Amino acid sequence: MRLLYRSRDARNRSRPMRHLVIVDHPLVQHKLALLRMKQTPTAEFRRLVREIALLLGYEITRDLPLAPVPIETPLEAMEARMLAGKKLCIVSILRAGNGLLEGMLELLPSARVGHIGLRRDPTTLAPIEYYFKVPADIAERPVIVVDPMLATANSAVHAVDRLKGAGARDIKFACLLAAPEGVARMREAHPDVPVYAAALDRGLDEHGYIRPGLGDAGDRLFGTR
Ligand code: PRP
Ligand code: URA
Repeated sequence: MRLLYRSRDARNRSRPMRHLVIVDHPLVQHKLALLRMKQTPTAEFRRLVREIALLLGYEITRDLPLAPVPIETPLEAMEARMLAGKKLCIVSILRAGNGLLEGMLELLPSARVGHIGLRRDPTTLAPIEYYFKVPADIAERPVIVVDPMLATANSAVHAVDRLKGAGARDIKFACLLAAPEGVARMREAHPDVPVYAAALDRGLDEHGYIRPGLGDAGDRLFGTR
């Protein structure tokens, strides 16, 4: 059994990095379909985002390092395996990122949390930063950036630029929906940052909205429209 564990870890380490990982688990796809429906009310939308975040988090943390730890079960001593190294930092791009953050924190309750406040200028689609606070030792932590929508990727690229500026090196990006344009932009700007998404949609419309999409994620999460 130990050998099996070891070889699985080794396989994870030697796997080439994929720039885009679509988490197409049936549970994720089912919940995503409910989320997209225009009649889904705010409370259910919020619950579904949290649940999908848990499932994305499961996939995104697949290669976290483990270390052997001696423990005692009620029957005997054994060497179990537990997470090793510095605790993760989850960085939420405000405000819609907070929906995913909640679910990720259920899975990783000890994670540290950073926030980057960004809003898109509706005309230029450029990100406008209004807040930035991340742990001082972010350079030593694996980082998961969460934002439900990767549209033009202007927000994601800006957030990753800022995090790298603060010293972060090991960064992953998690979203619900990605547009091909945003994936291409992220890959060009930050080829070392893999994108995890529940779906890759058709593309962007003239307002920079993902189609078919789910609408405005922040407004649907917080009931502001
Ligand atoms: C949305 C979304 C992303 C961004 C994606 O935020 O949550 O942050 O747009 O678009 P992009 O890939 O083209 O940059 P928005 O600016 O609407 O702010 P909000 O979260 O406060 O609603
Ligand atoms: N932001 C959203 O909330 N939705 C989109 O489709 C694109 C950006």
